[in-house]
Amino acid sequence: MVFQAPKGTYDVLPGSAFLAVRDGLLEPAALSGYAYVEPPVFEDTELFARGVGESTDVVRKEMYTFTDRGGRSLTLRPEGTAGVVRAVLEHGLHHGQLPVKLRYAGPMFRAERPQAGRFRQFQQVGVEAVGLVDPALDAEVIALAWQGFSRLGLTQVRLLLTSLGDPVCRPAYRAALAAFLAGLDLDDATRARAALNPLRVLDDKRPQLQAQLADAPLLEDSLCEACREHHEAVQQHLTALGIAYETAPLLVRGLDYYMRTTFEFVHDGLGAQSAVGGGGRYDGLSQSIGGPPLPGIGWALGLERTLLALDAEGIATAQPGLQVFVVPLGSTAKAWAVTTVADLRGHGIATDLAYGDRGLKGAMKAADRSGARLAVVVGDRDLEAGVVQLKDLRGGEQTAVPLTDLHDTISGRL
Ligand code: HAM
Repeated sequence: MVFQAPKGTYDVLPGSAFLAVRDGLLEPAALSGYAYVEPPVFEDTELFARGVGESTDVVRKEMYTFTDRGGRSLTLRPEGTAGVVRAVLEHGLHHGQLPVKLRYAGPMFRAERPQAGRFRQFQQVGVEAVGLVDPALDAEVIALAWQGFSRLGLTQVRLLLTSLGDPVCRPAYRAALAAFLAGLDLDDATRARAALNPLRVLDDKRPQLQAQLADAPLLEDSLCEACREHHEAVQQHLTALGIAYETAPLLVRGLDYYMRTTFEFVHDGLGAQSAVGGGGRYDGLSQSIGGPPLPGIGWALGLERTLLALDAEGIATAQPGLQVFVVPLGSTAKAWAVTTVADLRGHGIATDLAYGDRGLKGAMKAADRSGARLAVVVGDRDLEAGVVQLKDLRGGEQTAVPLTDLHDTISGRL
């Protein structure tokens, strides 16, 4: 039996744009003072239970939790924010300059039902700006994701924006919504969700329920003065930055820590799993995991869905591969090739060599398959004459190049 990757996981294979997309999405953040961090892939289970929230599907149904040999309950991280804020608190990063600006990338784990764009091990890139409440910072954070998508060439990402209020205005709204929901004809499962968190019912996509929710009270209409001002300022900054947003009063995120600015990036070419990213402010998260009051805002973008979005928009993601392939014919040529390849690589030219002494035909086939632009074909007699044959693998023409000019000629032709 040949093993297969576990359900809901996949292999990143040669030719994938994975790395380019991962780094491309984070490039604007890297240019804006967001330093790279990498918290561990597993943490104390309690961190996520308290940080992400006991009422969320993520914590209730989707965590990969295990007991280690020391009897500790650990969980593969379902998301990055709780771990990043834990790291900030543990290392006292918030005692320095604020906001603490951080970026990260890596695998997250959720035991969801796999489908197109939904995996059990998936990759996120994210940023977190911790320590300040400032609507201009919210706009910067949102802009960084927007720029990340645009520098990949995506033009059909939409930004949905709302405010989830704060502990001053949300409880009253929550009670009003619960009262409204109590008057509806809901099935038992939905009633149970409403009891846990009535806001989550707003997120139910079933048309029949959505129709009943048409007259539901909206949080955006019940924001307190401070939240309303903050929300308006964020929108003004976004407009000034030329970032188009759609207000989405029914937007509910799957994690409990959000308050005030909350947003999602969606792409219509992806089917049911249309969210390519999401985030928001989490001013209470630090306290819920035992820290001091420490506001924050951030986002995470899904790599798999971003790759699907690139596909849906027909954006080619060809990866830079080899530039030069060296074909030695004979033992002196082979010895020369080994050191020449090392030298070319040392000069930043992506180079490989035909290993295995397969003869001219086999080696030239390998050269063609390598994807390289140029082949250096060299026999023992060529070396005696002080030349090599340089072949353009796309055009096909071949020229003899003196050994002394090889480096310059290759550089000139690439
Ligand atoms: P999230 O909305 O749960 O937010 O995840 C962010 C993105 O990760 C989603 O929009 C989606 O693209 C991708 N994603 C989530 N689950 C899956 C899955 N099962 N398969 C494939 N992709 C998936 C967070 O995780 C927050 N930590 C974001 C944040 C950072 N909020 C504040 N700071």
